[in-house]
Amino acid sequence: MKPSIEIIEPKLFSGTVADEIVASIAEFVAETGRCTIALAGGSTPGAVYRDLARPPRVQEVEWPKVKLFLGDERWVPSDDVQSNLKMVRETLLVNLPSPGPQVFPVNTTLPNAEAGAKDYERQISSAFSLKTAELPRFDLVLLGIGEDGHTASLFPGSPLLAESGGICSPATKPEDKSVRVSLSAATLFSAKKVFFIAKGEGKSSMMRRVIEGNEPIEQIPARLYQRATGAVTFFLDSGAGRELEVAKGRA
Ligand code: 6PG
Repeated sequence: MKPSIEIIEPKLFSGTVADEIVASIAEFVAETGRCTIALAGGSTPGAVYRDLARPPRVQEVEWPKVKLFLGDERWVPSDDVQSNLKMVRETLLVNLPSPGPQVFPVNTTLPNAEAGAKDYERQISSAFSLKTAELPRFDLVLLGIGEDGHTASLFPGSPLLAESGGICSPATKPEDKSVRVSLSAATLFSAKKVFFIAKGEGKSSMMRRVIEGNEPIEQIPARLYQRATGAVTFFLDSGAGRELEVAKGRA
């Protein structure tokens, strides 16, 4: 399915994405009575989560019907500045009403990322009431994109890109060898909706390669969107989208 491309003025970016998340939650809650979301890590989503957690949006969401997971997590303590859970807690969770959403963090107190991935797989299987070897189908997956084309913790050349099974795995960031746990490509892209979010001119050439290029997924993992079974939307600010033909009105 062809992805949708939304190019948004920087000052409207986080509010627009937050509105789309609110609308999607309402849609899935109306359909099934709940909404399961895998949250993006990194720095871009922080402003979106803050907008989501302040009026009027925060009152529009039936938070007790929302289940929040992490698309990936750095293998650090949850109070470490690198922790995605810490970022989500400080930008979103602390500002939500009680009772709030059910949150499923990666347990980084376990001995290693292998144990963490197995435990997360068990948490997800239980939350989705999965049968053996069944993959979860998230309602919504939020994903950032690195300047090297990675998404979640699926990095260029990663052996995870070739794997088909599994809900989540340990992963390593090549440039600094930092260890993570990442949902698998199959899990991420079997979601009903995938929202990519990217800001800044620093990502403009990568966004053109992801969306309008044809390099292999092994080189640009974000091109996994082509395998998505659900709807994919790229939310780009005008900086990240400036090299796209669609941005120049030519596509
Ligand atoms: C992470 C993210 C990662 C991130 C991209 C973009 O844990 O780092 O999952 O995939 O989304 O690296 O990060 P920025 O939003 O900071 O540019």
